[in-house]
Amino acid sequence: SAAPKRSQSLAGKRIVITAGPTHEPIDPVRYIANRSSGRQGYAIAGALARLGADVELISGPVSLETPRGVKRIDVETALEMEAAVNRTLPADVAILVAAVADWRAEASPRKIKKGETGGPPELNLTENPDILAGLATHDQRPALLIGFAAETDKVVGHAKAKLDRKGCDWIVANDVSGDVMGGTENSIHLITANGVESWEQMPKREVARRLAERIVDAIV
Ligand code: CTP
Ligand code: CA
Repeated sequence: SAAPKRSQSLAGKRIVITAGPTHEPIDPVRYIANRSSGRQGYAIAGALARLGADVELISGPVSLETPRGVKRIDVETALEMEAAVNRTLPADVAILVAAVADWRAEASPRKIKKGETGGPPELNLTENPDILAGLATHDQRPALLIGFAAETDKVVGHAKAKLDRKGCDWIVANDVSGDVMGGTENSIHLITANGVESWEQMPKREVARRLAERIVDAIV
């Protein structure tokens, strides 16, 4: 029987996606991280692979199955994620869904003991590179560069500012003030140069499917 018309609409397109948190070690047993289940990024990877794209999923530590047809590369830290993303270039589209830790610590090679630091240890934080902003100015910048922004308040305002500051093409603004963190539903605003589209709350898989359709419309 004939395949659905859209089924291979992204054949030959290279798409890199980041998902999940990064873990920044403090010592061998402790780390700094953001909250992220990885579900939205994994759903997007799966939806794009179903449309025939060549998908590389650069994943922080999560407990999820790799979507069918997706090439997954596991990383732990922001620096590892950045290096892995850069190794996948050139790509037609990059979608940075990961909740990258903004700071890394100077990790101790041995476990820090509570008693020995005379109170809480100094973590000595360094800002991590901004992978999204780095791609925006890269000489192999993907033609379509999409960022995510998880916000609890002034969602659209903060996200618009990020679109300008980071030089990406779209921002998917995630309203995380409700119960979406770690859940299966999401409530998003799609922000582009043409304005803001607010989508009703829906399953993350449906957000992924619709976003994939928008990507087809934009690049095919
Ligand atoms: N991002 C990234 N590298 C970083 C931080 C963020 O690639 N070091 C990407 C995220 O994957 C996301 C977008 O940038 O696509 C926005 O992330 P966010 O944490 O919301 O932005 P920040 O600039 O870190 O702002 P905030 O102070 O709100 O955390
Ligand atoms: Ca951040």
